[in-house]
Amino acid sequence: MNRTILLFLIIATLALVISSNAEEGGSFSPYVDSKGNITRPTDFREKWTYLGSWVHPEDSKSGMHNVYTEPGVAERYKANGGIFPDGAVLVKEVLSEASRDMTTGKGVLHAKDTVLWFVMVKDEKGRFKDNPKWGDGWGWALYYADAPLKDVSTDYKKDCLGCHLPAKQTDWIYTYGYPVLNSK
Ligand code: HEC
Repeated sequence: MNRTILLFLIIATLALVISSNAEEGGSFSPYVDSKGNITRPTDFREKWTYLGSWVHPEDSKSGMHNVYTEPGVAERYKANGGIFPDGAVLVKEVLSEASRDMTTGKGVLHAKDTVLWFVMVKDEKGRFKDNPKWGDGWGWALYYADAPLKDVSTDYKKDCLGCHLPAKQTDWIYTYGYPVLNSK
């Protein structure tokens, strides 16, 4: 083979390998770009699976925590023996709450305004080794309601991991609070 053609083939192959690696991040989740930046999902209330809620006392600032995942994730989690599928996204929406006396009882708590959202994206391949928002099998992000497009987390080891330590055995997720993941 002529040397020029050989050189051309080597360069073309290298270019292909580099570009497919760069696209790796972008192609595994519609919410993650090639650098590992996470976009907040917006249609989870209408279209996703509701996993469950954590309800904090009325005088607490953090109120009601509602957790969602994408359609199909709960089924795959159960079919896989309790493992979240690669690319699965979890959203925890934190809302303030209010209470009133209702026909069902006194001081009934209900959700009011959104305060913030936590987002996690399952990454079983360790794709973004140089990005401090990724590690331990997940991408980790946080958005406040007054700037809903801006992920304000900087480093999941500082911002998130310590508080999720009690759930380490269940892949850092508090799965016991989500009935659909535990039902047969
Ligand atoms: C103050 C402790 C604390 C911090 C800090 C924290 N979490 Fe959590 N997180 C929890 C607890 C406890 C739960 C479940 C109970 C609740 O919401 O009250 C939870 C639940 C979640 C859930 C719902 C799925 C699950 O694990 O059950 C997501 C998603 C989440 N956190 C993401 C994050 C991300 C991303 C960060 C960092 C940007 C973070 N959390 C920081 C304590 C924390």
